[in-house]
Amino acid sequence: MLVKSPNPLSRRASAFDLPGFLESRTAAVNAALDRFLPAAHTRPATIHKAMRYSLFAGGKRLRPALCLAAAAACGGREADALPLACAVECVHTYSLVHDDLPAMDNDDYRRGKLTSHKVFGEGIAILAGDALLTQAFEIAAQCRGWPRYPHRRIVQELAHAAGSLQLVAGQVADLEGEGKRISRAQLRYIHERKTSALLCCSVRLGGMSANCTPSQLAALTDFGYHVGLAFQVIDDILDVTQTSEQLGKTAGKDHRAQKATYPAIVGLEKSRKIARQLTDQAFAALELFKGRAVALEALAKFLLQRDR
Ligand code: IPE
Ligand code: IPE
Ligand code: MG
Ligand code: MG
Ligand code: MG
Repeated sequence: MLVKSPNPLSRRASAFDLPGFLESRTAAVNAALDRFLPAAHTRPATIHKAMRYSLFAGGKRLRPALCLAAAAACGGREADALPLACAVECVHTYSLVHDDLPAMDNDDYRRGKLTSHKVFGEGIAILAGDALLTQAFEIAAQCRGWPRYPHRRIVQELAHAAGSLQLVAGQVADLEGEGKRISRAQLRYIHERKTSALLCCSVRLGGMSANCTPSQLAALTDFGYHVGLAFQVIDDILDVTQTSEQLGKTAGKDHRAQKATYPAIVGLEKSRKIARQLTDQAFAALELFKGRAVALEALAKFLLQRDR
């Protein structure tokens, strides 16, 4: 009898020490962020305290991990990618601070702690978001640039992912979709922009820091796009299935806010199937790396199975 062998990518990903990878890279990213940011007591201290409060509240650091893993897959040095990993995390954290504001998702908890506006007030939370976004570009501007990816290309890459055609566009469509019946195509549009764009940018910047070839960049783009979509489908699923304690943010909010989500539109089972299919597509994009993208493989598998 012919026994179907398990997906070789999946086998390799299981053998990789992902907990060890995440722990060591999180420590490296945290130490670098600590160096890049003004000290908490630097005047005006309120803003630097607020920036650090959200940045060091205990995020999973998945975008930096993806950035570093992509650099490794392309044969680069992770140290070259580290500033870009930090820049991406600053953009992400700004987006969360603003996403939680009363005028947006109105959330009281984030990363297991009170949200920025609950602690510092709305004005400072808005400014902390502004400052984190700006900090990201100050950090990215310090990278040295690579032969295929000069300095300006790196900054433009980050700006495009964060701007009004991508992350901000997704957040606009997310807000405008509240309480409306929207199609799966419209929901895909939202997820592509509000979430997938920055995850995709994270892996692309990692590749660029390794001076990757055009075909490697195309594979990373394909991978990041699909992993990014899967990431938001899972986020929507976890909002329904997990507790607030588990998530470190208020569970069940999407239903109450009448958000457009995959569970709301196609149900939980179909949402899980879609997340698996998207992850399979991400895995397929890594074939080009012929086993050298083992950290990316393990991350994709982990992102599908995560419980927070
Ligand atoms: C939450 O992102 C926001 C989404 C795009 C779904 P994460 O789940 O990566 O949040 P942190 O960084 O771990 O807090
Ligand atoms: C967040 O989407 C997307 C961005 C912050 C850009 P959500 O609103 O679903 O994220 P959570 O659930 O609050 O983390
Ligand atoms: Mg939101
Ligand atoms: Mg939200
Ligand atoms: Mg969510």
